[in-house]
Amino acid sequence: MTGWVGNPLPISLQGQLGVSCCLASDKAVFLERNSVHVWFATFSSMSPALECFTRTLDSTESLRMSRFVYEHLRVRFARAHGLLRLLLSRYLDCCPGELVFSQGSHGKPSIVNAKGLTFSLSHSADGVAIAVAREIDIGIDIEEIQPIEDRDDLVERFFSPAEFSCYNQLSPAQQETAFFRLWTRKEAFVKGLGLGLSHPLDSFTVGVDVPVSLAGRDTSQWSLHHLDPGSGFVGALAVRSHEVSLSGGTLQLFPKNLSGILIS
Ligand SMILES: CC(C)(COP(=O)(O)OP(=O)(O)OC[C@H]1O[C@@H](n2cnc3c(N)ncnc32)[C@H](O)[C@@H]1OP(=O)(O)O)[C@@H](O)C(=O)NCCC(=O)NCCS
Repeated sequence: MTGWVGNPLPISLQGQLGVSCCLASDKAVFLERNSVHVWFATFSSMSPALECFTRTLDSTESLRMSRFVYEHLRVRFARAHGLLRLLLSRYLDCCPGELVFSQGSHGKPSIVNAKGLTFSLSHSADGVAIAVAREIDIGIDIEEIQPIEDRDDLVERFFSPAEFSCYNQLSPAQQETAFFRLWTRKEAFVKGLGLGLSHPLDSFTVGVDVPVSLAGRDTSQWSLHHLDPGSGFVGALAVRSHEVSLSGGTLQLFPKNLSGILIS
């Protein structure tokens, strides 16, 4: 693949997002109406670009960033939101700093004057995932797979009875992966709805397998998709449509090419 994003390669819904691309050219990205693009990056691949990213944040983002007590969390926030601005600006053919965001009543962000462009952002540990669509509600969630002490308690408290039962039938070795699959699928759905964790997580049931099943309250219009965004991560994408073409890749940032794009 040459240039910046170009036409992302089609991937199967449960496929690896293994396409490499570079944010080098300033050509706008075309996104068809029934398509969702999913991009994954690791923060460690972005370090030299941090200063450029920070300069594109608006006063609300800068204030949010400054409220993090720990330096590494401030850096992570700047990188995630800087990358979000950079990526979205390529779809809207504008400068990253020109984007204006607003928030729904439960905190779901959207772009003002978006021309129908929708997005969802998730970050976990060293990774960030961004999904972009046109006139379709979407929600993405990724998690780094890692040991969690109270995993069984979380399943009991937050998962539906069917998910609880399914989880308990698995061997201990399978349960860790199953937990993160279920968790990201549930979070992707509530993020797609825009309700976040105010939507009861036990009011709907997601499957642990691929393709992903989804049943329960407010689910009929939605499809859920398994993502393998990067080594050590698992993820899910919720789309308010059953007919969607999913593609994407791993973003690689090359700082020498960023300055021309980022600084207006
Ligand atoms: C959204 C939520 C599920 C995030 O889950 P998480 O796994 O901790 O974090 P992720 O990295 O996956 O997602 C965070 C991103 O989701 C987005 N987001 C926040 N609220 C959202 C919502 N209600 N719906 C969809 N997306 C949302 C933001 O882009 C956020 O990134 P930011 O914090 O860097 O701005 C959870 O934080 C939540 O329910 N928040 C709602 C809080 C709320 O009700 N606020 C009301 C007052 S504004």
